[in-house]
Amino acid sequence: MPAFRKDLSAIGVYTPGKPIEEVMREYGVTDIVKMASNECPQEPFPEVQATIAAAARESHRYPDTGAYNLTNDLAARHGVHADQVWVGPGSTPILVSMALAMGGPGTSAVFSQQSFIMYTIASAYAGTEPIRVPIGLDLRLDVDGMATAVRPDTTVLYLCNPNNPTGTHLGRDNVARLVDSVPEDVLVVIDEAYEEYVTAPNHASAIPLAVERENVIVTRTFSKVYGLAGLRIGYAIGAAPTLAELRRLQVPFATTNVSLAAAREALRHQEQMAERVKANTAGRDDLAAGMRALGIDCIDSETNFVLMGPVSDAAALTEKLLHVGVIVRQFGDHIRVTVGSPAENGRFLATLGELS
Ligand SMILES: Cc1ncc(COP(=O)(O)O)c(C=O)c1O
Repeated sequence: MPAFRKDLSAIGVYTPGKPIEEVMREYGVTDIVKMASNECPQEPFPEVQATIAAAARESHRYPDTGAYNLTNDLAARHGVHADQVWVGPGSTPILVSMALAMGGPGTSAVFSQQSFIMYTIASAYAGTEPIRVPIGLDLRLDVDGMATAVRPDTTVLYLCNPNNPTGTHLGRDNVARLVDSVPEDVLVVIDEAYEEYVTAPNHASAIPLAVERENVIVTRTFSKVYGLAGLRIGYAIGAAPTLAELRRLQVPFATTNVSLAAAREALRHQEQMAERVKANTAGRDDLAAGMRALGIDCIDSETNFVLMGPVSDAAALTEKLLHVGVIVRQFGDHIRVTVGSPAENGRFLATLGELS
């Protein structure tokens, strides 16, 4: 056997929502709805699909690893300078690059115990000790608990806002309070993967904070509302000197010609994006109302998913749903359900009614 890194076997492996093909094979069902991975239920915008087809013809060339055009488009869209934008192959690899740049043995990272699993996994990649802070009783991230958890060896703090898997968000005052209470040598990563879906009036993106403070970074993705999860494209916004350091650990040529072109085209269709947000809000309300009508509690969501529960045997219910082709994701005594199309939401609720 090769001499692997000593801590390699302790690194958790990311478990994705079950792919449709796997459920078909394992459960022998063909009519499947996937509501497990917080994807967009609609295909990419038609104009984006045409762009993808055209860009595919350039596949014999390396992509622009500096993502010059998309970076400029994003800078214009967010009112920041191009050197305050960092494009990568999805927000996950950007989170990993940051974990590697900030971490290592002898350092620690603070994040919520009930949050995106990649903060745990990326910390393990880096050899960083995770400090997991329990979520508040109101199921929102515990701002004071996270600030108090920061130790002298803490180099990074991850804040998922809105949070996956609870769907809850922190308003702008709480985010600002957290940033203010963390030492300036701690990188505060604010993961805004679900930002576009938020409807709460007291919410605001932390992008202004990120360009103002050298220790704050916001990450965003095209995987959710823009429907480009399969193409892998995302970005971060922050102070130019901070990004310049963090990007040292970015794998070159990880984005593709196709993903860069698709993301640029997607940005041009803000009206279609707004329509999708509207549809998501309606679907999210329908799911929550339907769950509650069946006597099952759920958490008010600001995202494209609803966390249902507590339910008495969440594992068994998740399994029963899988058997009839409805893929959802279990988190302890809760089940996370991604907002689907109206038909998918209807099918989920009808099946839930039959099974529970
Ligand atoms: C909080 C959060 N951040 C990031 C991601 C991953 O996004 P990407 O597809 O850009 O890697 C997800 C995906 O589910 C997520 O829930």
